[in-house]
Amino acid sequence: DATTGGTAAARPQWSSRLAFILAATGSAVGLGNIWKFPYITGENGGGAFVLVYLACIAVIGLPILAAEVLLGRRGGHSPIRSMAQLCRRDGASGGWAWVAWMGFVAAFVLLSFYSVVGGWSLAYIGHAARGAFAGANAEAIGGMFGGMLSSPGTLLLWHTVFMLMVVAIVGAGLRAGMERAINTLMPLLFVLLLVLVGYAMVRGDFGRGLEFLFAPDFSKLSTEGVLTALGHAFFTLSTGICVMMAYGSFLPKEVNVARTVVTIGVLDTLVALLAGLAIFPLVFANGLEPGAGPGLIFVTLPLAFGQMTGGVVFGTLFFALLLVAAITSAISMIEPVVEWLEDRGVARKLGALLSGSLIWALGICTVLSFNHWADFHPLGFLSRFEGKTLFDLFDFLVSNLALPLGGLTIALYAGWVMKADILREQIGLGDGAVFELFRFVLRFLSPAAVLVVFVYNLV
Ligand code: PFF
Ligand code: NA
Repeated sequence: DATTGGTAAARPQWSSRLAFILAATGSAVGLGNIWKFPYITGENGGGAFVLVYLACIAVIGLPILAAEVLLGRRGGHSPIRSMAQLCRRDGASGGWAWVAWMGFVAAFVLLSFYSVVGGWSLAYIGHAARGAFAGANAEAIGGMFGGMLSSPGTLLLWHTVFMLMVVAIVGAGLRAGMERAINTLMPLLFVLLLVLVGYAMVRGDFGRGLEFLFAPDFSKLSTEGVLTALGHAFFTLSTGICVMMAYGSFLPKEVNVARTVVTIGVLDTLVALLAGLAIFPLVFANGLEPGAGPGLIFVTLPLAFGQMTGGVVFGTLFFALLLVAAITSAISMIEPVVEWLEDRGVARKLGALLSGSLIWALGICTVLSFNHWADFHPLGFLSRFEGKTLFDLFDFLVSNLALPLGGLTIALYAGWVMKADILREQIGLGDGAVFELFRFVLRFLSPAAVLVVFVYNLV
């Protein structure tokens, strides 16, 4: 292949534009939509936060996601090799390629704790299905969550099962493994979600749920809330750590990147909002608090299911939904690592097993952060990190540093280093004002916004 510098074997491609959309949507739709979005919305008072979040997705998240995908397609290799080659072709310093190295490390660390939380969904499918929530009071349900966290064996078991599923899917290959799994899991995800929203309509206080999510009350929105919304825009779209660059490398040339990325953003947003509509009506109908934080779906929601007709069935379906969402994201995180090994001649199966084992081992740090190492605060001497466990630090490293910093670098590269003609041809927005606006956002607006979040997060 003359343009990318001559590798012998033809690289596999997604079988269609739809296959890419489903895979990228699978990456985007994850714990971020079903777990995090509802609880940060709850903590930040609802409607006004949702509006700001939507604006952040549209104005800052999507342009950067588009840049990341088109860089991946142009590069046509693992992110690390792609970025190195693009720098050469664009006559830029090879230093830009560090974004792919950072992404590599970040995806590795991210999966190590994402898998532990993904494992919680496995544990909770079990709890829900055997009726453990039925009639239980707040203390019992809180104890169930606390009991899981305090048991390293339980956490390790589910973390292991989760990682095995990820390795099995990714190891089977792009089409036979990932595409096949995604083609089954994504439709299932949408069906489950719609069923759960239907349940919330019938059994929940749907009106209050709608009002909470969509009636903005700006007095409830703090600066912190705005920055949380912006930070979450990166996380939810999976953009900034070169995971979407890896997926983009399999994207056929004729696919329009702009249109595809908008579809992904709309679907991701839709799932987050629908998850809110599946959760909050049940919370309100049972007189519970929307602002419970991370325990919203593991404590508050089970309490609601435990008091409701059909709670066993629909509670089980809810945690199955969470599992499906988490798995399709997890496979995207290990992909850049496996691709990097493939670039070095390691077969995919072995590469998946090898990287999966290392990530699994690192995950043990997260497992222990909830129990034996709960009082181990490695950076506790810095007031910014007081009381933070290893898991908190991993999360901070990925969500607050790597994702925004990577997004910033990608925006700057596409906006300033790439020639406008190449960018124009790759993005597929025509050559009018819309393209100019897109380039302006990449050059000025997104970098400025990211810098603000970044500085705020550090101090
Ligand atoms: N977008 C995923 C979610 O919302 O859960 C999380 C994620 C996946 C972040 C992949 C970053 C990434 F590279
Ligand atoms: Na998401």
